Amino acid sequence: MSPIQPIFSLFAALSSYAASPNSAQSSSSTAVEIDIPPAANALTISPSLVSLSIEQDRWTDWSGIMSGNQFFYNVMENLNNLTGSPPGIRIGANSEDRTNFNEAVQYAQDIFPEPNPTTPYPEATNITVGDSYYTTAKYLLPDTEVIWGVNFGQNNLTAAILEAKSIMQAFCGSEISSLGISLKYLEIGNEPDLYMNNGLRPKNYNVGQYVTEWTNFANAIFEDITLNETSTRFLAGSFAGSSSNLEGFSPQAIYKLGISDSPAGEYIAAFSEHHYQGTFCSGSAGVLADLMDKANIRGNLSQYVPDIQATNDQGFDYILGETNSYSCHGAPGVSNTAGAAIWALDYVLYAATLGTKQVYFHDGIGFKYNLVQPVTLTRSILDGSPLSSPLPPHVQPQYYAGIVAAEAIGRHGNTQISELDIDNAQVSGYVFYDDHDEKRLVLINHTPYFKADETAGTQRPVVNVQISFPKKCGTRNIVVKMLEIQHSDDTSGLTWGGQSYETSDGLIQGSVSASTVVSNEYLGIPASQAALVTFDCS
Ligand SMILES: *[C@@H]1O[C@H](CO)[C@@H](O)[C@H](O)[C@H]1NC(C)=O
Ligand SMILES: *[C@@H]1O[C@H](CO)[C@@H](O)[C@H](O)[C@H]1NC(C)=O
Ligand SMILES: *[C@@H]1O[C@H](CO)[C@@H](O)[C@H](O)[C@H]1NC(C)=O
Ligand SMILES: *[C@@H]1O[C@H](CO)[C@@H](O)[C@H](O)[C@H]1NC(C)=O
Ligand SMILES: *[C@@H]1O[C@H](CO)[C@@H](O)[C@H](O)[C@H]1NC(C)=O
Repeated sequence: MSPIQPIFSLFAALSSYAASPNSAQSSSSTAVEIDIPPAANALTISPSLVSLSIEQDRWTDWSGIMSGNQFFYNVMENLNNLTGSPPGIRIGANSEDRTNFNEAVQYAQDIFPEPNPTTPYPEATNITVGDSYYTTAKYLLPDTEVIWGVNFGQNNLTAAILEAKSIMQAFCGSEISSLGISLKYLEIGNEPDLYMNNGLRPKNYNVGQYVTEWTNFANAIFEDITLNETSTRFLAGSFAGSSSNLEGFSPQAIYKLGISDSPAGEYIAAFSEHHYQGTFCSGSAGVLADLMDKANIRGNLSQYVPDIQATNDQGFDYILGETNSYSCHGAPGVSNTAGAAIWALDYVLYAATLGTKQVYFHDGIGFKYNLVQPVTLTRSILDGSPLSSPLPPHVQPQYYAGIVAAEAIGRHGNTQISELDIDNAQVSGYVFYDDHDEKRLVLINHTPYFKADETAGTQRPVVNVQISFPKKCGTRNIVVKMLEIQHSDDTSGLTWGGQSYETSDGLIQGSVSASTVVSNEYLGIPASQAALVTFDCS
């Protein structure tokens, strides 16, 4: 591994820029001063903020069949152990609307199209599942809360009811319920606001028809199955976009149209929005610098502020129930890189400051934007070409974003978050409070630094941050851990406080390195890296 840049040196990074031949372009050497606000405007952050959405055609690859998938279990347990709660798991997405039920099927039968360079790991076009498909949820971590989707796209009420029955039967069974694993939400359909484009409904399908059909399906399911009223609710929406007004598909529109007025509707407890920051569906290239950009992340998420407000006004939680960098499985050389980890870290924390309860990063076997590849792959995720040797299960760079966010949230249980007001287009930051006492900061340098920059001899920019700790903190121990990234376009080799998750079992390796600093020191954060600053002000 190449040596990590020096992290702390009192004014050293600043003075090295003054002497640098590149100093004319080193505007990012400007020092940034940060004040820590009191907790007054902080929002509660969920310990399962970082959650996963999984494409349901190959769900049993994630769970395991005859026995659990130990790699997937380990990487979920890493997150669980940092926050005290397992990530939420949503199973569904496009393939949810192509799933039929047949009790004679063991697990699942899938029909897959041929791979191609744009889509190396295509989704199944036809899935038939039986009871044991759903019971593999028993291999999840104890206490995992699950969202499972049923088919609404094919407008086949029989399929939806049979699936819902089988799901509820699985979750009421002792194998699953004795582990505290529960069905948190039943989702009815995936991205119904796209049905008029993908042939699942007529071209003139509108939100009024959606609410009527959703209500019919939900009520029929509700009458036919015994909902576990302690744990299970309905999820509304799962829209691919939002008009944020009463005309198109939006949470505002469905509430106005009375989606929660029926017997089943009264069991709605959350609205799910899907969002991708860009799209790779036609194979167009993605731009990593745009993905990582602080202003772009804010623009992409703040558009939902009115929707979050409208949803909270109903007493419902607002979740990003399926999200990632580029839709259609990610952009090659972008979604699978370390820069995407910088994106994901800022994206998930910024979403939390807007009142998003959980962020479900979408993953499927062989998708480019995954946090985790839980099974051995034999073709390239980038272009579908055969690999010279099989690639065993591994984490991808965005997994580190989940780890950093989880460690920042911590295990306290009553933690709040606020965004720091940082007047710099390349730097974002967040403060975490336990019981309203400021305890931790996450600081992120969004500046890209590519392999080509290093080859060209371009000095890596460093942002020098000076933190004004509250007076009560004095100069007590302040500990800093870095998310070390060599280049934004690296696809591996990241470390978190010197430790790696790029191991054969997904368990952490190496010994932790963290620095203790004094309160008036400048903290140098190299381009495309992030820091967790822990202090004790109580
Ligand atoms: C999580 O914590 C438990 C209890 O301390 C421990 O047994 C387990 O090995 C930890 N798991 C991981 C992945 O570190
Ligand atoms: C409707 O769903 C049932 C159960 O999954 C399935 O057997 C049937 O073939 C489906 N009907 C159509 C028209 O797809
Ligand atoms: C899906 O697959 C099932 C079982 O393999 C088959 O009976 C059914 O006709 C297929 N449906 C479609 C729409 O291809
Ligand atoms: C209902 O859910 C609660 C909470 O998850 C669980 O304790 C209970 O066992 C479930 N009941 C049944 C019948 O599964
Ligand atoms: C979202 O981010 C992309 C770049 O990743 C940008 O092109 C787009 O304009 C942003 N959207 C909004 C609404 O800010």
